[in-house]
Amino acid sequence: MPVYIVLLGPPGAGKGTQAEVISQNLELPHISSGDIFRENLKRQTDLGKKASEYMDRGELVPDDLTIAMIQERLSRPDCLEGALLDGFPRTIPQAEALAVMLAGFNGKVESVPYINVPEDVLIERLTGRWTCRDQGHVFHEKYNPPKIAGLCDFDGSELYQREDDKAETVIRRIRVYLEQTSPLIAYHRQASLLQEIDGTKTIERVSADVLAVLPKRK
Ligand code: AP5
Ligand code: MG
Repeated sequence: MPVYIVLLGPPGAGKGTQAEVISQNLELPHISSGDIFRENLKRQTDLGKKASEYMDRGELVPDDLTIAMIQERLSRPDCLEGALLDGFPRTIPQAEALAVMLAGFNGKVESVPYINVPEDVLIERLTGRWTCRDQGHVFHEKYNPPKIAGLCDFDGSELYQREDDKAETVIRRIRVYLEQTSPLIAYHRQASLLQEIDGTKTIERVSADVLAVLPKRK
């Protein structure tokens, strides 16, 4: 049976950072809705252009567009054994649609690590973040600096600051998270899937804590 894991947490909690480690460890593809939107924008597809209108304002892309995009991504052959979802679902209707979708693949969400980080820390993390142009690897000027300033350690591509990492957009994203995404904490807790992780510890410590609560594979 395929294994699906959902990483939950506010903007800047470290979902992308941890997903890199977990996806390697569990040999599951890392599916980030934000990365897919940004990749579409880079290719100037209709989806990318439409999504960027919302992303640049720090708002959520409408559910119908987002759900269709994830359904298409999860149907690809590399997801036959499951996936690690980062940034999806982000609303209750998205979570309900995911359950229906996964039932169609004979699977379900097995675990929801929730990386909890307070708001003041999130702002510092996002305004100091540098993202790689090619594959979206993330660094932080203070907490996780690249070996060579301005270049990605993994693929050598240029590092840039995301359009939505400006202070005022970060504040808007956190508000949107509190209003529209945080109800998923109770939703997953009720289903006994939620595993709360203290995301203020070091990157390595958070990785160990997340891996400790996840189902073992093989
Ligand atoms: P998305 O790209 O998903 O952004 P997000 O959820 O706001 O999360 P981030 O990527 O900003 O943070 P992260 O948790 O991945 O943190 P990271 O590991 O980078 O979404 C962007 C936009 O797309 C949304 O606003 C929306 O418009 C749209 N969208 C996406 N999905 C959608 C959906 N399902 N529905 C509708 N719209 C959707 O870490 C942050 C920084 O902190 C880095 O610099 C990192 O190096 C550093 N760091 C990480 N961990 C630590 C640590 N433990 N200690 C110190 N520093 C750390
Ligand atoms: Mg991310």
